[in-house]
Amino acid sequence: MWSWLPPCLMSTICTFEPSSDVPSVQLEKQVPRCRRCAEVFDVDAIRAEFPLLTDRTIDDARLIYLDSGNTSQKPRRVIEVMTTFMEKTYAPINRSSYRLAGEATEAYEGARHAVARLINAPSVDEIVFTKNATEAMNLIAMSWGRANLGVGDVVVLTQMEHHANIVPWQMLAQERGVEIRWIGLTADGQLNLSNLDQLLDGAKVLSFTAMSNVLGTIPPTEQLCAAAHAAGALAVVDACQYVPHNVTDVQAWGADLVAFSSHKMCGPTGIGMLWGKMEILDAMPPFLGGGNMIDAVTYDGFTTAPVPAKFEAGTPAIIEAAGLTAAIEFLEGIGLHNIRQHEMQLTRYALDTLKRRFGDEITVYGPDNVEVRGGVFSFAFRDLHPHDVSQVLDESNVCVRAGHHCAKPLMKTLKVNATTRASIYLYNDEADIDALADGLEGASDIFSF
Ligand code: ALA
Repeated sequence: MWSWLPPCLMSTICTFEPSSDVPSVQLEKQVPRCRRCAEVFDVDAIRAEFPLLTDRTIDDARLIYLDSGNTSQKPRRVIEVMTTFMEKTYAPINRSSYRLAGEATEAYEGARHAVARLINAPSVDEIVFTKNATEAMNLIAMSWGRANLGVGDVVVLTQMEHHANIVPWQMLAQERGVEIRWIGLTADGQLNLSNLDQLLDGAKVLSFTAMSNVLGTIPPTEQLCAAAHAAGALAVVDACQYVPHNVTDVQAWGADLVAFSSHKMCGPTGIGMLWGKMEILDAMPPFLGGGNMIDAVTYDGFTTAPVPAKFEAGTPAIIEAAGLTAAIEFLEGIGLHNIRQHEMQLTRYALDTLKRRFGDEITVYGPDNVEVRGGVFSFAFRDLHPHDVSQVLDESNVCVRAGHHCAKPLMKTLKVNATTRASIYLYNDEADIDALADGLEGASDIFSF
């Protein structure tokens, strides 16, 4: 009776044999998976899909990878899809008429469909592939910004942005005399929205992160997009820390332009994404010029191809697009809301464990309420330098990031030069948090002289 069911996308993870006591499959955004996979979040089974997390050892011990805010590890499925693609399907896209090239083009365009599905974009043509989220943010500032902003125009950012959502606007400010205003922070690392109307008064753009890579804070995206629109401003969302960990619905957000990257969501490096409302993308001038983005070229000039090709000059990341599709299917198979639930529980465990074991010796930045934060823990530990902390943790194979996290202005607001940052993902569990805490005990011992 179950033979009609499509294979569960967790099939390489799911050991579940459907039987008559399982009432039905559940659908998440039309992606089939079995009910049990929706109910059981089996970190061991998930981790078993990541060769680096299971097979790689240093000093004969496994790695405790707590640097996914920086970049995520890759499941076997992504690695295999990319390898198989290179062995069997690789060819140029969009420019050759033989069948192999048609297959490669289909795979590349398939990634666009997967991304559109992932973020609930109304049209697949609104997905633009870039090199990474940083390039997508530069595209917005340099294309939309140059076309629409001039002397005295106002761009509103928040104090919790990372450099990719600061520097492109500062470059524009230098070039065009644009004014940048900053939304400040509350004591617990949320946005201070008390003067939002004032900051947005006369603004042309509000550009903000959907989740801080330092504080973990998840701002009220829908409220901010609505406030931007009420002020007549464009709502730009840097979603690279958000999309990998949450169900994303760009239409529900009411955003205008959204940037995010593949490498933070189990996909390969080298490919990022910009989603935008078609009427906005359509009106934007091209960012990079060259092949693929043109309609006609003469000695006198050129005309552009329609969106999204208009913004995809040159040979794109074809193999990476195939890997990205596999990564999205992998995440959808597990369920983004399941990942969010798991990470909320683990975030609670991490905040409680660090507090219980280290009390006042540790300051974890960002909100305590896991409803408004993700699994990113930046902290100051005793008076130890974050680089020393990270080096000692590395001796226990605990991989964390230490430094400014590409958010130097925020470090100034926090009145620190740097922090140590642990960041979790679907393959982490309580044992990883315990290992972090044990490693910190070790740092205490080493530096207690
Ligand atoms: N990739 C940078 C990080 O670690 C921004 O958060």
